[in-house]
Amino acid sequence: NSARRPLIAANWKMNGLKADGTALAGAVAARAKAVGTALAGDILICPPATLIDAVAEALADSPVALGGQDCSAEPSGAFTGDIAAAMLRDLGCSTVIVGHSERRAGHHETDAAVRAKATAALAEGLTAIVCVGETATERDEGRALDVVGGQVLGSVPDGATAATLVVAYEPVWAIGTGRVPTLDDIAAMHRHIRELLAGKVVGGVDVRILYGGSVKPSNAREILALDDVDGALVGGASLKADEFWAIVEAAP
Ligand code: G3P
Repeated sequence: NSARRPLIAANWKMNGLKADGTALAGAVAARAKAVGTALAGDILICPPATLIDAVAEALADSPVALGGQDCSAEPSGAFTGDIAAAMLRDLGCSTVIVGHSERRAGHHETDAAVRAKATAALAEGLTAIVCVGETATERDEGRALDVVGGQVLGSVPDGATAATLVVAYEPVWAIGTGRVPTLDDIAAMHRHIRELLAGKVVGGVDVRILYGGSVKPSNAREILALDDVDGALVGGASLKADEFWAIVEAAP
């Protein structure tokens, strides 16, 4: 859909120290600058929190946007180790990922908790990338559409709009495994998510829906060509400038 500009987002997860992180961001920034206004889509890098400041510097004067990987639902206060949306904004982030399956599973984040984080992000003027996705068991049991639908309805704040919300569909079993759903399954899930968003938020039909889970240069083009796929959230392949850039170039 040409109304929705593709978004290729890098989620570095817990990877990178100052030297390699700034070099990687610098390499992506240099390529983006070279292409300039001819870029087919938006590019976003979400480094670990420790690198946000250094990566901001590496991305300066480039069209590459900066994001966090998580934020607190609270605005400030006694929450040791947590990071407020305002702090991300303060470092130059435009966006934050919330509800990644690694946080849902590893940090026991419920739909309500994810929605509270997304609400806090929106309140600070950040765009929230809300992640959803079924486990292998849920898919095998034929419950993928229902499970993901429930996550969308439970995790997306009512006040979100197409300008402030992105949804990322990441099947848990496809993350870091090299396994991806069939193109038909991706298309069906994205269509389902779009229908739910259309009924839930203002301008919901224009919300960008990313696919994530083992996206690499070799499969990016066919996935990104699907009607309701508006970009990708890339983990492993985003840690190599060449691979990430090949995925950026695969956007229609
Ligand atoms: O958020 C992106 C992610 O979970 C996908 O990871 O390594 O399968 O691309 P990967």
